[in-house]
Amino acid sequence: MAKFLGIDSSTTSVKALLADEQGQVIGTTLTELSLSTPKPLWSEQNPHDWWDATVSSIRQLLAQTNTKGDEIAAIGLTGQMHGLTMLDKNGEVLRPAILWNDQRTASQCDEIRWFIGRERLIQLTGNDALTGFTAPKILWVREHEPEVFTKTHHVLLPKDYVRYRLTGDYATDLSDASGTLLLDVKNRQWSTEVLKALEIPLAWMPKVYEGTAVTGSVSALAAAATGLKAGTPVVGGGGDQAAQAVGVGAVESGIIALTLGTSGVIFASTDKPFIEAEGRMHAFCHAMPNRWHMMGVMLSAAGSLRWYRDTIAPQIDFDTLVNAAATVPVGSEGLLFLPYLTGERTPHPDSLARGGFIGLTLRHTQAHLTRAVLEGVAFGLRDGFELMKGAGLTDIKQVRVSGGGAKSPLWRQILADVLGVELVTVNTTEGAAYGAALLASVGAGVYPDVDAACRQTVKLTGQTRPSAAVAMYNDYYPRYRALYPALASEFAAMAKVVG
Ligand code: XUL
Repeated sequence: MAKFLGIDSSTTSVKALLADEQGQVIGTTLTELSLSTPKPLWSEQNPHDWWDATVSSIRQLLAQTNTKGDEIAAIGLTGQMHGLTMLDKNGEVLRPAILWNDQRTASQCDEIRWFIGRERLIQLTGNDALTGFTAPKILWVREHEPEVFTKTHHVLLPKDYVRYRLTGDYATDLSDASGTLLLDVKNRQWSTEVLKALEIPLAWMPKVYEGTAVTGSVSALAAAATGLKAGTPVVGGGGDQAAQAVGVGAVESGIIALTLGTSGVIFASTDKPFIEAEGRMHAFCHAMPNRWHMMGVMLSAAGSLRWYRDTIAPQIDFDTLVNAAATVPVGSEGLLFLPYLTGERTPHPDSLARGGFIGLTLRHTQAHLTRAVLEGVAFGLRDGFELMKGAGLTDIKQVRVSGGGAKSPLWRQILADVLGVELVTVNTTEGAAYGAALLASVGAGVYPDVDAACRQTVKLTGQTRPSAAVAMYNDYYPRYRALYPALASEFAAMAKVVG
């Protein structure tokens, strides 16, 4: 039986996953990566580290699963999105990659809006200019490191640098390309209008492919390094969120993927591009032909709970902490938590937004604080749902939850009640690397399309229905919603005070 390799080069590690034709996971390996913060707000990694970690994860996986390179029929790539890798004419890395969570480009985002016009930018690319995206990073390099800029011949996203080392090709897939702010998302091609306005040469951009299309094959050099077979086809794959969505079967219109990891992501697959007028939701291409997706990214979801536990209750394990919160009434007796611990992206693209507990009284116990954190994150995710509905995406049939936070039955119930929808869990919990392996199996012709691959492999394992608490949360939500607008100018003023 043919095997498929999925490689996820995330911010923290490179994961390699091997699956068989029926979607059964045969094995996974992980090689950790470190992150460098040379200045406040900066976040960088060395692209060579991605490749070294990829080689190590693949070698370990082949050994661990007793697999020979020629048993692998195709490879799918995924990874952290938006990161800027610049290469010279010989394909040499020119500077460390500037990552998705780097915040240095606020003024370049303003420039982009000014050059193109905010409305036109959103129409063309589906998105407003955000510090995390790739285009403002290119402008930053032009302004601050002209010696790097003038040597640049190629711009690649993180997983596509891995592809370059694996195959020698400069290529990307449309879902990841959507996060550059340089893609015409409706027409699924680079936007010559945006590239021209920003004076970024089209020749620098990699060729774009659908996620299931073969972009090249493993080179002899990469085969020698990894133990893979030269000539093994590599498909486009997808950005981490699109691949994660494929992995849980969120590929049809009306099925939403909700990922409760460090960040909280709501991801709706659509069969036409839905663009939120203000650009507060991302409108990206999905990792398969003729599908798009709408996405909201909350920066601190399970990350809020982790911060809270580490800071307030480091001696208590997560289960004990969260179980105690189940004894507190819905709404935590008027205590609200704002989850903007690392600023926010959706629905408030504001790096100065801050977290908070609002409404504390002497009556509130640790269990109230815990419950308020779970509820605050759920309200923040509801903000994203409301934006989706406002953009016309009203037909929400099912929400598939995954990620570390979704393991908690209480948190799932709170989410079902705050969002007012049924949540389901699925059997495929290996994340983006699994989705990349499924894309590879479609590329190799095992399945006619991604829908068929998901129907065959992704099965529902549980459901959480909304309870009578929906009505109570409907009363609390507007109170939560009112807090950010009331405090935003104070957050900005405080940032000045803090310097
Ligand atoms: C997506 C996003 C993150 C990064 C890192 O827009 O910013 O998912 O890709 O994982």
